[in-house]
Amino acid sequence: MTGALAREPELGAAEYKAIAGILHDAARITLGEGKVTLVQSRLGRRLRQRGLSGFRDYLRLVQEDPDERSTMVAALTTNHTHFFRESHHFDHFRSDVLPELKARAGRRPLRLWSAGCSSGEEVYTLAMCLLGESRGAAKWALEGDVRLLATDISPPVVAATRQGFYPEAATKAVPPIYRDLWMEEVEGGLQMTADVRGLVSARELNLFGEWPIRRRFDVIFCRNVMIYFDDRAKAELERRLVDQLQPGGTLYIGHSERLVGEAQTLVRPCGHTIYRKAGDLP
Ligand SMILES: C[S@@+](CC[C@H](N)C(=O)[O-])C[C@H]1O[C@@H](n2cnc3c(N)ncnc32)[C@H](O)[C@@H]1O
Repeated sequence: MTGALAREPELGAAEYKAIAGILHDAARITLGEGKVTLVQSRLGRRLRQRGLSGFRDYLRLVQEDPDERSTMVAALTTNHTHFFRESHHFDHFRSDVLPELKARAGRRPLRLWSAGCSSGEEVYTLAMCLLGESRGAAKWALEGDVRLLATDISPPVVAATRQGFYPEAATKAVPPIYRDLWMEEVEGGLQMTADVRGLVSARELNLFGEWPIRRRFDVIFCRNVMIYFDDRAKAELERRLVDQLQPGGTLYIGHSERLVGEAQTLVRPCGHTIYRKAGDLP
């Protein structure tokens, strides 16, 4: 192949603007300035897979084909995550929230949500903290009505969450006691044990679409997701998240995020980027 043929297809300003518009309409993600190279390389791969030589043809395809539109949106999401990310949240969960949940176990269902879960490290960190340091002590959760929901707009990362497989290097931050109990060695890495995976339901969900969710949550983690949205979208999402929390439920957001809208009046801060909804947990 000649050098000229190997180059990424050119992404002109008009096509970039159209792609940014589709991404905003679909997921409310705002593509800032200077993301041309990122878009070009992430979608360039897709153009090649579809046998297309230019972005104009790709845009035509995206406009005609909703599946390709979803693929494009997923390709443009940023899925960076890791186990025990912002570990102070998990310390707070273990010390302040978990005892309250345990006190309610057996009396009513307990529900936790990782909204914008990426490849699952967040929800499995939460699950391991919930289960703790011995199988015996985890019985209340493993045998009780306890579920963790993990959702993301990107189908490949939802599939990865469901699989719960991680290369060894990705599990370095997991304390050995949790690794020994809740992960098992498989070819090429570690997989969450079947009972931990069994606690987690991984689903595709656009946070700006319908939420086919019946119950309220005791805990919601929505971290490092809102950074991609403008203030209007943030305010709308925060309000919906708080509405979906039980009274007394806890919301964790990312380290560089803050509540910007009405939701601020419905919660009180109880730690760095940790908020508790007014009222007492039922
Ligand atoms: C940077 S990751 C954060 C993962 C994890 N919460 C953490 O803090 O490590 C952001 C995730 O939000 C998801 N996301 C972005 N916009 C979304 C939307 N409108 N609906 C659902 N998920 C979305 C992306 O696909 C991505 O996996």
